[in-house]
Amino acid sequence: MTDTAARRVTVVGMDGRRLSDAARHSLGECRIVAGAARHLDAVADLVAPGAELLPLGGLAPALDRIAAATAPAAVLASGDPGFFGIVRALRERGLDPDVHPAVSSVAAAFARAGLPWDDAVVLSAHGRAESGRSARRALAAALAHPKAAVLTAPGTAGPEAFVGPLLRAGRTVYVAQRLAAPDESVVEAGPADADRTDWAHPNVVLAVDPGRAVAPAMAWMPGHQGAPDGWALPEDAFEHRASMVTKPEVRAFALARLAPRPGTVVWDVGACSGSVAVECARFGAHAVAFEQNAEDCARIRANALAHGVHVDVREGRLPEAFPEAPGATGPGGALAPDAVFLGGGDDRVAAEALRRFRPERVVAALASVDRVATVHAQLTGAGYRVEGTQLQASRLAPLPNGSLRLAAANPVTLLCGTAAPDDP
Ligand SMILES: C[S@@+](CC[C@H](N)C(=O)[O-])C[C@H]1O[C@@H](n2cnc3c(N)ncnc32)[C@H](O)[C@@H]1O
Repeated sequence: MTDTAARRVTVVGMDGRRLSDAARHSLGECRIVAGAARHLDAVADLVAPGAELLPLGGLAPALDRIAAATAPAAVLASGDPGFFGIVRALRERGLDPDVHPAVSSVAAAFARAGLPWDDAVVLSAHGRAESGRSARRALAAALAHPKAAVLTAPGTAGPEAFVGPLLRAGRTVYVAQRLAAPDESVVEAGPADADRTDWAHPNVVLAVDPGRAVAPAMAWMPGHQGAPDGWALPEDAFEHRASMVTKPEVRAFALARLAPRPGTVVWDVGACSGSVAVECARFGAHAVAFEQNAEDCARIRANALAHGVHVDVREGRLPEAFPEAPGATGPGGALAPDAVFLGGGDDRVAAEALRRFRPERVVAALASVDRVATVHAQLTGAGYRVEGTQLQASRLAPLPNGSLRLAAANPVTLLCGTAAPDDP
């Protein structure tokens, strides 16, 4: 770390408030000042006469110019420039900036809503927005977590990608537009806003589960709490019908291959008790459970509630009950899956899930040996690399005389498919 006085590049965060004396002093020394037009306007009377003003239209050329210069330069940025901001890009160019942070838009948005946010996940939908991937990942994480802030980007990652699906999931949704600007507007979205497209940028979307707007206990680490405190939970951690629940030994291996985590979508197909969906949600994935039996659907909801997670339960007979358009997030739509667990349903269900949704990972749990060759052929035919394992656990159980026996559980074959790397 260099003495701040010796640093050539200064970064000044802007949040509409008066800049600190130190930031004002640094700005006055700079020969180049780069920033968005609105930020340059705001500091016009602080910049030295003759200093070059560099509007940040294309970010990379302006930063390259600053990196190549020898004169002191400043970059103006929104909020806290060290938080999803310009400091990263400057560091990548080998610069060691002197940073004067302002209040982050996320902090300001939660403040406007009057909510604590140490329990929130903060998601950036910036990045590979053209493919919609950043927005999809951010939405999956926001749906899975009781409190989320999304840094949006105009286009496919704007509020229109988030507001409707989050409202339909029962969240209270706020859109904080142009914070600290004279036309700032923070609105709680209502049903009429679900399809709205005329949001003002920049903006932050907040989504809050009304039942958990204030977490029951203060966490020690912000956001998602990481791996749950125990997984591959025993059968009796779930309500189930006549022992129709994936056994923990099998579930452990299935979870390892499904790789549930924040930002991913996992479908539990033929979910029954929903034990797989609930465990995926505990790892931070957005879990969708497809189940045709209404009583089982009620049990899945109860199991999710008991474990404090959100599972999107879809009642209906498969494959007809699969969402029409893969990836559609409108009413009846569902985010396309990263991983699918085939715990129920027949070969036609498996075939349709693979053909229509092409998840990156598939795990099929098969009790019937007849189906092993068929599903294996479906997976390899669809271009998956397939690993097959028969699992047969024997648990220690007491005998009446006090000694122990091995109680065998039914063997299950797990077929795990991974999409080849060059797959879309
Ligand atoms: C690259 S991030 C920068 C975040 C910034 N470092 C901060 O701490 O606020 C850009 C995103 O921040 C949010 N943002 C920045 N300024 C904002 C403002 N004045 N009002 C609302 N959102 C803003 C928007 O989501 C925008 O797309």
